[in-house]
Amino acid sequence: MRLVSGIQPSGNITLGNYLGAIKQYIKLQEELKEAEIFIFIADLHALTVPQERQALQKSIKSLAALYLASGLERDRVNLFIQSEIPAHSQLGYIMESTVYVPELQRMTQYKDKIAKQKEGIKASLLTYPALMAADILLYNADLVPIGDDQKQHLELTRTLAERFNNTYGNTFVVPKGYFPKTGARIMSLTEPTKKMSKSEENPKGTIYLLDPINQSKNKIRSAVTDSDTKIYYDKKNKPGISNLLDIYSALKGSSIKELEKQYQNSSYRELKEDLANLLEVVITPIQEKYFQIINSKELTETLNIGKERASLIASRTIAKVYRKLGILR
Ligand code: TYM
Repeated sequence: MRLVSGIQPSGNITLGNYLGAIKQYIKLQEELKEAEIFIFIADLHALTVPQERQALQKSIKSLAALYLASGLERDRVNLFIQSEIPAHSQLGYIMESTVYVPELQRMTQYKDKIAKQKEGIKASLLTYPALMAADILLYNADLVPIGDDQKQHLELTRTLAERFNNTYGNTFVVPKGYFPKTGARIMSLTEPTKKMSKSEENPKGTIYLLDPINQSKNKIRSAVTDSDTKIYYDKKNKPGISNLLDIYSALKGSSIKELEKQYQNSSYRELKEDLANLLEVVITPIQEKYFQIINSKELTETLNIGKERASLIASRTIAKVYRKLGILR
C-alpha cells in the first residue's frame, strides 16, 4: 500500500492546506501502519505562475519544515522535493502525450484561473494536471489524500492511468482519492462562498499557519456571518457560520451535529471566541516546532533520505514506462 500527496510552495501555507491535506497525512501515517508514504513539495507546480527566486526558495524550505512541525514523522514518511527527482518531469511529458487538450481545458481550476488572468497564461497552467498525474503514478500510489478542489485532477489521473494501461498493458496502479469528512473545502472568512486560498486578494479571508496567532484569531473574530442569530449548519443560507463549524469540526475532530448541539443556545460571538482559542491551541505548538527545525540539520537529512527512496522508486517506474513505449535503443 502506497500513499502520495504534495502541496505547492507558492506563498504561505493556509489553514485550508492544513485541514484539507496535512492533517489527513498525519492521520493516515498513524492509521495505516503498513503503508509507505511519499509526501513532497510540489515546487515545479509553483512555476505555473510567476515566482520570485528568493521567495520561492524560502517557501520550499518553509513547507518542508512545516510538514515536520505539523507531525509528519521522519521515519514514517519519505519527504522530498519534486524537482529533485527528474522522473516527475519525464513522466509529466509522457502524461502530456497521453492526455487530450480538451480534457485539460475542462478542468475547473484552469477555467477559474484563466477567467481571472487574461494575459501571460503559461502553457504549464494548462498542462499542470499531467504533471500531477505523473507525481502520483510514478509511485504506484493506491491512495491520495487531498482536499475537494483537487478531486477533478485526481479523476483525470485515474483516466490517464487507465488509458495508458489499456494501450500498453498493465503499468500503473489506478489511485483513489482520500478526502477528509470535514475540512475538505475551507472557505474564505470574508467571502464564505469562495475557497480559502493562498492567493486571496483580501488577506483577512485567509488564515496562514505561520502568521502571528493573534492576527489569525482576529480574522476568526471578524469572519463574515449572516444576520440571523441561530447556529446551525446550512451551507446555502449560512455559508459563513457553516464554514466556521467546518473549521471547528476539522480542528477538534468533533462532528458538526455535536457542535450544533453544543452551540444551540450560544451567540455567534461565543462560537467565534471558542474557535479562535481552539485555533491557538492547535497552531501554537506547530509554530514552536517550526522555528526549532527550520534551520536544523534534521530537516536537510530528512529531505536527503526522502529523495533517495523516492528517486529509487521513480526511476524504476520511468524505465518501465519508456520500455513499454518503445523508447529504447
Ligand atoms: P495546493 O498546493 O493548491 O493545495 C494543497 C492541498 O491543500 C488542499 N486545499 C484545501 N483543502 C481544504 N480547503 C481549502 N480551502 C484548501 N485549499 C487547498 C488541496 O486540496 C491540496 O490537497 N496540485 C496540487 C498539488 C499536487 C498534488 C500532486 C497533490 C501536485 N501534485 C499529487 C496530490 C498528489 C495543488 O496545487 O494543491
